[in-house]
Amino acid sequence: MNLIKPTDKDTYAVIGNPIDHSKSPEIHALFAKNTNQPIEYHATLAPIDGFANTIKDMIGLGYKGVNITVPFKHEAAKLCDVKSYKAYMAGAVNTMTFVEGKIHGDNTDGDGLLTDIQNNLGFPVNHKRVLILGAGGAGEGVFQTILNEHPAILTIANRTPEKAKNIVEKFSHHSMVCHACGYEDLDHQSFDIIINATSTGLSDTALPIPDSVFADGCLAYDMVYAKDTLFMQQARANGATVADGLGMLVEQAALAFKIWRKVAPDTQVIMKALRQ
Ligand code: ATR
Repeated sequence: MNLIKPTDKDTYAVIGNPIDHSKSPEIHALFAKNTNQPIEYHATLAPIDGFANTIKDMIGLGYKGVNITVPFKHEAAKLCDVKSYKAYMAGAVNTMTFVEGKIHGDNTDGDGLLTDIQNNLGFPVNHKRVLILGAGGAGEGVFQTILNEHPAILTIANRTPEKAKNIVEKFSHHSMVCHACGYEDLDHQSFDIIINATSTGLSDTALPIPDSVFADGCLAYDMVYAKDTLFMQQARANGATVADGLGMLVEQAALAFKIWRKVAPDTQVIMKALRQ
């Protein structure tokens, strides 16, 4: 594999497969410029069966840290020597820091989503009815963070309900608040914040959810970005405020940048630049 060798600047990268369309290099370059941090940040394609070797090579070359994206976040969690509580609970790592040959793992996805929903979009989670659609890596990755904000109800629905049930069981000490179900069980229920964490936006598939899930004044959030998904279209037709996942992408990147550089970049200017 042709890894880019670090220069005298502290060097980071995002690793995934595929990686071509990642916006992370652009986002981190803007963070670095705006905070005067002299870093480099690359996009690295790892072979599907070669993630661990890629990380080993990067540590050997002197990289300072990496972001991890699909499909390696779970594998990344297993490679870490030390993990934050959030990374441990999510069972997934999106940010690694290399410290004296050891791998520190963190997960900023949940907090990135929460910052976007609460601070940028102005929808507090506390005491609200929240619905997560999708119990894959993305849904599980944000479940705990949302639960920590004390919603009135936190329901996770999935095509394969067993996977949703497993997630709720993992956090069962909140069972009065948490519910797991299939999409057909959502009839006659409505929610204030609905988060699409399925990959259906990428394949232009509609989710079989009833229009009644969208409560008056609700927020409908699709973690997919740069796309008007069928979920977003259905939500808009039902009067919801609609958002894509660009804000989450920028906020989770800012939190990773802060872990590495101890500086919090201004995310608003970056979002404006990326939207244009
Ligand atoms: P990610 O890490 O992005 O969450 P994943 O773990 O493969 O990826 O999960 C994909 C999610 O999208 C799952 O919730 C999946 O539902 P299943 O667990 O039942 O497979 C959901 N998904 C994918 N395609 C779907 C479709 N056509 N209809 C409904 N849900 C779908």
